[in-house]
Amino acid sequence: MTPSTEWKEVIAPDETATFERLAQDLAGLQAAVAAKKGVHRALHAKANLLARAEFEVLASLPPHARVGLFAEPKKYDAVVRFSNGGPAPQGDKKPDVRGLAVKVMGVGGKKLISGMESAPTQDFLAILSASQPFRTPEDFVWFVVNARQPLTLLPKALFRFGPSVFPLLSKLQKGLGAPLTALHTNRYFSALPIRFGAYAAKYSFAPLDADASTGPVDTAGKPDLGGALGKLLETRSLRWELQMQFFTDEQATPLEDSTRDWTGPWTPVARLTLPQQSVSSEAGKKLAAWGEPLSFDPWHAQEEFRPLGAMMRARNAAYRVSTIARKAAPEPAALP
Ligand code: HEM
Repeated sequence: MTPSTEWKEVIAPDETATFERLAQDLAGLQAAVAAKKGVHRALHAKANLLARAEFEVLASLPPHARVGLFAEPKKYDAVVRFSNGGPAPQGDKKPDVRGLAVKVMGVGGKKLISGMESAPTQDFLAILSASQPFRTPEDFVWFVVNARQPLTLLPKALFRFGPSVFPLLSKLQKGLGAPLTALHTNRYFSALPIRFGAYAAKYSFAPLDADASTGPVDTAGKPDLGGALGKLLETRSLRWELQMQFFTDEQATPLEDSTRDWTGPWTPVARLTLPQQSVSSEAGKKLAAWGEPLSFDPWHAQEEFRPLGAMMRARNAAYRVSTIARKAAPEPAALP
């Protein structure tokens, strides 16, 4: 299947105001959590682990993939944050979204966010599913905010969504109810598309060292996903391959339908390596303390990789409001 440049976004005339309102709804949730548990990210509050990383753009990419950061083979420093998705920190046993955020450093080129055009970073944010259950950013935020009251969630959701709530809940349940797996064995997906030069693509981090053993996840007791990953990193490096799935046509790769997995091949473009390191050493703790206040954001990107679709554009408002509320650190020039 040949990548196509014929992708098209659908932009509603009043969407900026809607997205600002949704960002404020999430900020309300963030403030409610802060009153009880201190200020965190509006979502993905709990860091499982922060670690130093290397990001290596692969050689011999096909011509359509040689864009921006991927134009030539090169190694970059990076930092990664593994997280649970909920708005408040909670034990790893609870069903949750799991996130991987990657910040590549020392990246030139013009960046997207106004006032941050010369920021030296390119971020990638990913979760465990290749798409997600919500049709619109309004549905996403409504659900996240109302999930704080689980007892009234179902009747309220039935009222709002009607019978279409059942397939939505089933997809949500499939994602959240997936067996608890060691973080280094997971494949992480952007779930939403980005521009890729003249093309568009979703991306995924596919594990290359899933066979490394941390022993079984302690699902009966008190699993500690970050702790287990940290222990494994004491003994060896761990790698993921960054792959792109290019837009071909609206049937196979619907640009604005965030509920559909795309079909088509994955093209490897880079390798993410977490070198062997001690996250419990002084240097490891220093890195975690430096990395936690950072902001990982799909809009921290070169112009060639603008996030695409309504759900992505809604994130443009939401991440900024959340990072301002928690006084996030500015974009870093280098690892500490
Ligand atoms: C479906 C695709 C999505 C993916 C893959 C994704 C992934 C992530 C990840 C990995 C993080 C944690 C970043 C970190 O470690 O600092 C995060 C945080 C966050 N997400 Fe998303 N997310 C998605 C959709 C959304 C949507 C639709 C919204 C709202 C409209 C949203 C709002 C947020 C907010 C407010 C934060 C916290 C930002 C901060 O304070 O740094 N996300 N997301």
